[in-house]
Amino acid sequence: MDIIEELDSLQHDVLARIKAAEDTAALEEIRVSVLGKSGTLTAHLRNMGSVPKEQKAEVGRALNEARQAVEEALAGAKDVLSKAELEAAIASDAVDITLPGRHQHIGSRHLINRLIDEISEIFLGLGYSVIEGPEVETDYYNFEALNAPADHPSRSMQDTFYVRDMTGAESAVRGESNLLLRTQTSGVQVHAMEDQPMPIYVIAPGKVYRRDVADASHLPQFHQIEGLVVDKGITFGDLKGTLEYMCKAIFGEDRKTRFRAHYFPFTEPSAEVDVSCGICHGEGCRMCKHTGWLEILGCGMVDPNVLQMSGIDPEVYSGFAFGMGVERIACLKYDVPDLRMLLDGDMRFLEQF
Ligand code: DAH
Repeated sequence: MDIIEELDSLQHDVLARIKAAEDTAALEEIRVSVLGKSGTLTAHLRNMGSVPKEQKAEVGRALNEARQAVEEALAGAKDVLSKAELEAAIASDAVDITLPGRHQHIGSRHLINRLIDEISEIFLGLGYSVIEGPEVETDYYNFEALNAPADHPSRSMQDTFYVRDMTGAESAVRGESNLLLRTQTSGVQVHAMEDQPMPIYVIAPGKVYRRDVADASHLPQFHQIEGLVVDKGITFGDLKGTLEYMCKAIFGEDRKTRFRAHYFPFTEPSAEVDVSCGICHGEGCRMCKHTGWLEILGCGMVDPNVLQMSGIDPEVYSGFAFGMGVERIACLKYDVPDLRMLLDGDMRFLEQF
């Protein structure tokens, strides 16, 4: 086969390989094998010296044509393949900007804390102050100064957790620790009467503890809001008006309240307050156990004995007090069927408020 034919078939062959190349890497391989240092065309170029004189011009032209044809075919194919490769890279790297972003989960205040704030606002609007008392309390403030001495039967309903006194500062009551987790916020009444100047208009929200097993209507730890007013000429009418106002502010204008005679050691007379059921509007349903009423708090006129124990002259001053369970009010306000749901931390529940 003469050189011209050989070059022809080489060119033909190379152009076919270029056409079949699937990517730019394959093209580069072809370029090196044809035009590289030891490429097939390069070998021919190097061989020009041994081409017979009379064929030199023809072979030279054919070689140039072949090189040009291969270079052009390589450039054209590279153009097409690199564009396709770029597009494929863009497509595979693509970010779907229509996807919603990953949002940060921002928490909110718990229902109970919000309700405490809401009720505090109601009383701040009436000119009360918000105060706090200790959660670890002495027997005196939790029971004794509230007219419930050690043998008082009301204590049996408020068993609690006792705290071992490591300081030795507190004396023991009947051989038991004198320090306890408070069962009620009512002890803050005593602190207020001892510490505050007259007149007293305070509420005291906070945690309380009882030795109860958690069920739908009991928790071993819950929140109460205590209220205390001591001033000259305070009557049961002031207590009624204040609590009726508060109930409407919490539950809505359409809700009725009623006062039922009750007993608490530190108030005389004492009452429990019911609010009309928001589900059946007084008709009777499961929520209100078919009574039409829901109990929301205890209250009464501060027992003169309690005033006296805290150094206030009951001949000059009188007062009223009330105490409510915040979890209970939350359940009644938002129709929560089980107190334990407030502690579960289930976002599907909590996010509703
Ligand atoms: N401390 C009472 C309890 O936990 C509630 C209570 C009743 C508070 C009557 C009061 C009150 O201030 O006057 O059951």
